[in-house]
Amino acid sequence: MFQTDLLKGRTVLVTGGGTGLGRSMALRFAELGANLFLLGRREEPLAKTCEEIRGKKARAAYATCDVRDFAAVENAIAAAEKEFERIDTLVNNAAGNFIARTEKLSVNAFNSVVGIVLQGTFQCTLALGRKWIAAKQPGNILNIAATYAAVGSGSGFVVPSACAKAGVLAMTRSLAVEWARYRIRMNAIAPGPFPTEGAWSRLLPSKDLEERARQAHPMKRFGRHEELANLAAYLLSDLSEYINGECVVIDGGLWLRGAGEFNDFADFPDAAWDALEAARKK
Ligand code: HXC
Ligand code: NAP
Repeated sequence: MFQTDLLKGRTVLVTGGGTGLGRSMALRFAELGANLFLLGRREEPLAKTCEEIRGKKARAAYATCDVRDFAAVENAIAAAEKEFERIDTLVNNAAGNFIARTEKLSVNAFNSVVGIVLQGTFQCTLALGRKWIAAKQPGNILNIAATYAAVGSGSGFVVPSACAKAGVLAMTRSLAVEWARYRIRMNAIAPGPFPTEGAWSRLLPSKDLEERARQAHPMKRFGRHEELANLAAYLLSDLSEYINGECVVIDGGLWLRGAGEFNDFADFPDAAWDALEAARKK
């Protein structure tokens, strides 16, 4: 479906690009001709993914950076521009999340997730957007949301993430209008369940929970990374230039079956929660 030069000449900054869906998107964009610059806190996955991208004969570089730190974001973007001259595309993919009973959360736990997801997305967007506007250059932004925000439903047991992703969605729709005059486009994707080490270890941390989630899915399967990566490539490409401020759900129809992806955890016995929490504290 895609020509291999779909993203030729583009330089894409992917936050959280060393692992999971960020990594899969980065590899796919590289196959489609893009240069990649990856951000994350841990060096090892970033370096490894850059190696894989170079194996596909594309250019790649990275910087370690906590997206909650605006100065660090600006430094990372400066490093990216040194490497590639200009970044024209941003994918706000970095996130934090965990399954927990809200009444047990500390304020710091809430702030930590909101800081990564909402503030981090804003800070990367602001740092690059300002540069694009000053240089009178167009730009393209894709935010990774979640179905429990995209469909306005929320979900129990992931309250910090639901709040933050809802904010990301509001940002997507607001800036799509405000920055259209600068030829900056902003869209979002709301993924259903896609197996990644990061999400599974924090949200479905046992085979039983994984199987329960699979059985509850209308298609009885999880998403494949290439399905999401191809959607992302389309939304970033010039083929979708008239799509702006949109959030595309890719979840196999899961949310239609019952909004609030983790609401089913309400029938989880307290003893099971206690065991989950004890496992985390080890
Ligand atoms: C309750 C928790 C917790 C948990 C951490 N905390 N994990 N509280 N339940 N499972 C609390 C800590 O006790 C601490 O509060 C506060 O959160 C910050 O924790 P730190 O470990 O100090 O923070 P930090 O190093 O910044 O780590 C952030 C993190 C961590 C979000 C807590 O999990 C992380 O780094 N995540 C990044 C990757 C990730 O989450 N990927 C999954 C994305 S999946 P106190 O008060 O003790 O200081 C996703 C999918 C959505 O978003 C939809 C799925 C279908
Ligand atoms: P993941 O592999 O854990 O991805 C999260 C990435 O963000 C990691 O590479 C992590 O790297 C980075 N990150 C976290 N905190 C950061 C910070 N403060 N600064 C910079 N980078 C940070 O999980 P994933 O499943 O691929 O998630 C990717 C995106 O998809 C997220 O937006 C998530 O909410 C969304 N999503 C996933 C699913 C799913 O089923 N997998 C469903 C819905 C939405 P470091 O830890 O090295 O910083």
